[in-house]
Amino acid sequence: MSSVTPDRSKVQPAPPGIMVIFGAGGDLARRKLFPALYHLMTDGLLAENFRIIVVDRRDRDAKDYRAYIDENARPHVSKAMNDDLWQELLQRIHYLNGDFQQANTYTRMSTLIDEIDRDYHTGGNCLYYLATPPDFFGDIATQLHAAGLSAESAGQWRHLVVEKPFGRDLESARALNRTLQAAFNEDQIYRIDHYLGKETVQNILMYRFANSTVEPIWNHRYIDHMQITVAESIGVETRGGYYDTAGALRDMVPNHLLALLSTVTMEPANSLDGNAVRDEQAKILRAIQPILPEQVLTDVVRGQYAEGVSSKGEPVPGYRSEAHVAGDSATETFVAMKVLIDSWRWAGVPFYLRTGKRLPGRYTEIVVQFKEAPNMMFRDSLVRREQVPPNTLVLRIQPNEGIGLSFNAKVPSTVPQLSPVEMDFSYKDYFGDGPTTGYETLLYECMNSDPTLFKRADVIETGWELVEPILDVWHALPPRDFPNYAAGSWGPDEAAALMSRDGRAWRPCKACSVD
Ligand SMILES: NC(=O)c1ccc[n+]([C@@H]2O[C@H](COP(=O)([O-])OP(=O)(O)OC[C@H]3O[C@@H](n4cnc5c(N)ncnc54)[C@H](OP(=O)(O)O)[C@@H]3O)[C@@H](O)[C@H]2O)c1
Repeated sequence: MSSVTPDRSKVQPAPPGIMVIFGAGGDLARRKLFPALYHLMTDGLLAENFRIIVVDRRDRDAKDYRAYIDENARPHVSKAMNDDLWQELLQRIHYLNGDFQQANTYTRMSTLIDEIDRDYHTGGNCLYYLATPPDFFGDIATQLHAAGLSAESAGQWRHLVVEKPFGRDLESARALNRTLQAAFNEDQIYRIDHYLGKETVQNILMYRFANSTVEPIWNHRYIDHMQITVAESIGVETRGGYYDTAGALRDMVPNHLLALLSTVTMEPANSLDGNAVRDEQAKILRAIQPILPEQVLTDVVRGQYAEGVSSKGEPVPGYRSEAHVAGDSATETFVAMKVLIDSWRWAGVPFYLRTGKRLPGRYTEIVVQFKEAPNMMFRDSLVRREQVPPNTLVLRIQPNEGIGLSFNAKVPSTVPQLSPVEMDFSYKDYFGDGPTTGYETLLYECMNSDPTLFKRADVIETGWELVEPILDVWHALPPRDFPNYAAGSWGPDEAAALMSRDGRAWRPCKACSVD
């Protein structure tokens, strides 16, 4: 297999600046942010005068915090560890002890930013990263504004990075957007969906629009349907408290699943400019047919796992027995749905989406199933119809990122026989290991003021508009059959029925214990 080394000669380090991490003692900071910063540093993509302020309310100082990150973030670094570089990253940390609900934290922050700017020439640039519980997003933005920390002087930037979830329904998403936009301009707000930081998701656009063989067949004339699966094999682990108030629909659909759907269905943008791409994504999301209340009963399936056997073969408890989950919880841990897009390109093509916890495998993929070939040539031959399945293209987002195409080939023999065969492109084989957490690209793009991979307010709200009728119907009609699938299975029977009644089936998982 040939391998290609990316040409880094044109890639410059990001501009200087200060990254302020709110919630620096949390899970995201240690598992993702510091490993991602280290990976950027090893690739020479962090400016020499890039500094980090951590906002933390524990009883510790800079030395203790560095020791904490050394111990807790180091195991999540996946590139080769260069101790000198790692220590250099730790030495760039400035510690700000304080509660981010208190105004004086921001006055002290302002003084610290000025000092660092003077000593390290950070250009007045600041990236405020809200690695905090979502209830604090609006308040922190407001306090930053009140302390004069959101204002940009000529030639400098001040960016606010917000993690998901962006609200819990349309009304709260709108309210959050209003609060954020009262404190920062929309072009200063970077809403992260880490799926968009994944190489393979970005590659979908490159694959579609940089290959002349792909676009001509990427429409209703050649494509029968698409399936998007985001499967998790784990349960809710330690996140029961949050998850029980959210559920699979809120947690995954308006953000990750719709991000994948829009990327795979949008029209070509006229440039890679942030707003050109996001305009097209917004347009395709607005073209999704609204789901009517009566359709929720037929085209959307919800499920909750009962006890069963994990993908590793171990007995596992049902959702209602997980920590911090109500014993009679009506929260769904699985959702499958069918959507249609009102556009010339996608007229009549169904898109089936599914996601859930405690499924037989952990993977994310998009399956593009093409229409059947007219098989009249084989009608009177020994080739049976089922030996000529339709072609499928599988875009693997994780793990084993790549693209696979299955097509039919003649089996060597004296009688005509056909068999599906596969052509496979694996990212790792060609390009080696790329950025690993997905956060490297997002942080780098944010420092470079490129919003392409971040969600705009209208895209977020369109996503919630789509799921709102489902939330309403589910709220009015609580589930009567929960739990309705065993841990380690592919969700409730209705999920298979959603496809089979259209004469289709979910693509079996080859790497899973159960198809
Ligand atoms: N973890 C992930 O992999 C992940 C992935 C995707 C998105 N997210 C999102 O990222 C955000 C952060 O997640 P997380 O898992 O890192 O949460 P977390 O582990 O609960 O961390 C939140 C941090 O905020 C701190 N905090 C809370 N209130 C504070 C206050 N008033 N003043 C100062 N600090 C305060 C907490 O401090 P204490 O430690 O002192 O309580 C904690 O360190 C969430 O919005 C989450 O949905 C996380």
